[in-house]
Amino acid sequence: MHAFVFEQPGRIVFGRGSLSSVGESAARLGGRALIVTGRRFAASSGYLTKLVSSLREAGLVVAVFAEVEPDPSISTVDRGSRLAMEKGIDVVLGFGGGSALDAAKAIAAVAKLGGSAEDHLYPKTVEDALPVVAVPTTTGTGSEVTRYSVLLDPSAGRKVVMQGVAIIPRVALLDPDVTDYMPGRLVAGTGFDALSHALEAFLSRRASPLSNLFAREAATVILRELSRAVEGDRAAREAMMYASMLAGVAINQAGTTMVHGLSYYLTVRHGVHHGVANALLLPYALEYYAGTGGKVDELANALGFGGWRSLVLRIAELEEAVGIPDSLAAVGVSPEELDRMVNDALQYRRNLENGPVVPEPAEVREVYEKSLRGRRTFIGGLKCSEALSGT
Ligand SMILES: [Fe+2]
Repeated sequence: MHAFVFEQPGRIVFGRGSLSSVGESAARLGGRALIVTGRRFAASSGYLTKLVSSLREAGLVVAVFAEVEPDPSISTVDRGSRLAMEKGIDVVLGFGGGSALDAAKAIAAVAKLGGSAEDHLYPKTVEDALPVVAVPTTTGTGSEVTRYSVLLDPSAGRKVVMQGVAIIPRVALLDPDVTDYMPGRLVAGTGFDALSHALEAFLSRRASPLSNLFAREAATVILRELSRAVEGDRAAREAMMYASMLAGVAINQAGTTMVHGLSYYLTVRHGVHHGVANALLLPYALEYYAGTGGKVDELANALGFGGWRSLVLRIAELEEAVGIPDSLAAVGVSPEELDRMVNDALQYRRNLENGPVVPEPAEVREVYEKSLRGRRTFIGGLKCSEALSGT
């Protein structure tokens, strides 16, 4: 067994109704709270009012920054952190999907360290931040337990990362009741983000026996529950909230690989939801890793499949079942973009070099080409269109 370090600070509170303890959790960390959330859901669902009253009842002074857009930009973080500094904030409450939580974590760092978010990006490590309470309202990103904040640099047209143990939320409050509000499509998209996290963490070169425990359990639960969760089953959604947190712990230790590295282009240039973008690439990236000795058989066996092809076929079936688009072409990507896509993906070296093997540009291109054609044509030597119609 190889050596490893497993660092996972932060309290995880899981359970229906646990949101009512948010004020109590925040009061242990500070006296002046900034709620960081998106523009609509928190207000329209009534949760924002509940959060504000819970914090006030616990004796906190409350400010609200409800301006986080999907795929939040550096400038949004800078605006939020300026507000935090003006208001003398000492604890940040992130409420929302991965975008709101990532923004909250970055705001907490910049408010503490000063400057702009730009000054604190990877390859730097954030060494200090205000404490964060994270309340996820989707079931995928795992941001509530990770040291990553993924942001958009619009001027460069790229995703950038702020990272450091300091931005791991001090409290992750997971209340499955909030998933009642999720549209099925969002459950499908975020569910595939979580599945990608679990599978990529297992394949990662930084994977350890302990991170694999989390990755394996997360993938098992997601493969079992996602379809029912998309249809609205409450117990399945609760299981997805649990599994996406597990997958978050797995990537917090092991990081992501080429699936994430190749997917950012689709989100930045075509506005494809992050989880859907991962889903579109996942079968072909697994096929590539399988063909180059990249531990996919080991992964398949760990999940109870008889070899990597069965695992890839199961994933393709699940994508079909929950309405993931068939191909990159179906989300508006054209073959003329291939050169640009490959160049863009190669910029995400952090992800590519973290995989079990590092793909050559031609291999990245091949994964994109297969994904452009889609899962109905061919996956791993399996005629998926035939296999799928037979199921
Ligand atoms: Fe992700």
